[in-house]
Amino acid sequence: MKLLDARKDHYRKLAHEQGFRSRAAYKLKELNQSYRIIGPGFYVLDLGCAPGGWTQMAVKLAGNQGKVMGIDLSYVEEISGAHILRGDIEDENTVDEVMSYFERKVNAVICDLSPKVSGNWSVDHAKQISLNYDCTKIMDKVLAHKGNAVFKVFDGEYSMEFRDYIKKKFARINLTKPKASRKQSSELYYVCLGFIG
Ligand SMILES: C[S@@+](CC[C@H](N)C(=O)[O-])C[C@H]1O[C@@H](n2cnc3c(N)ncnc32)[C@H](O)[C@@H]1O
Repeated sequence: MKLLDARKDHYRKLAHEQGFRSRAAYKLKELNQSYRIIGPGFYVLDLGCAPGGWTQMAVKLAGNQGKVMGIDLSYVEEISGAHILRGDIEDENTVDEVMSYFERKVNAVICDLSPKVSGNWSVDHAKQISLNYDCTKIMDKVLAHKGNAVFKVFDGEYSMEFRDYIKKKFARINLTKPKASRKQSSELYYVCLGFIG
């Protein structure tokens, strides 16, 4: 995107005005308006949360009775109402850290992970999907029965395989692209409702 376009970008402007750290916050807002992934009082785990737009939005959606934890490899500045862990979702100890914070299973797992992009599309796509499988390993252990999940997917040759894999774990899944997601981006979102396990 050219700098001039970026300045004009509606969601970027909105994020700046409303105090969200990324325009991505509006993707979650929109997904939630359509599918109610997060409701008041929900316990929410946000995987790949930097700089924190989704975490901020999750705090808002879950309200005072909710609990939100965000995890990222990168440093994330404190977010009021959320617990941030600097860590690697590929690390097996992450599940213990999650459970020790929530002390019970969570109602939603939201995943917006992107690897450091190399510029080689096939490599980046494969790595992004592989991160999603790592998320499902955590999700399987921490998501409550009937809970919800969202996965960002760089659409490509392994997307359908991933969809078939998660489809068995939920009552319903939907493939969608929120308006706040740039048209030229290959990202899509799987919204998964009603965790069966
Ligand atoms: C697109 S950003 C997330 C944006 C975020 N949802 C927001 O609203 O601000 C993707 C994030 O995934 C993180 N990430 C990639 N691999 C990771 C890993 N193995 N463990 C934890 N975080 C990871 C990156 O550091 C990056 O911050």
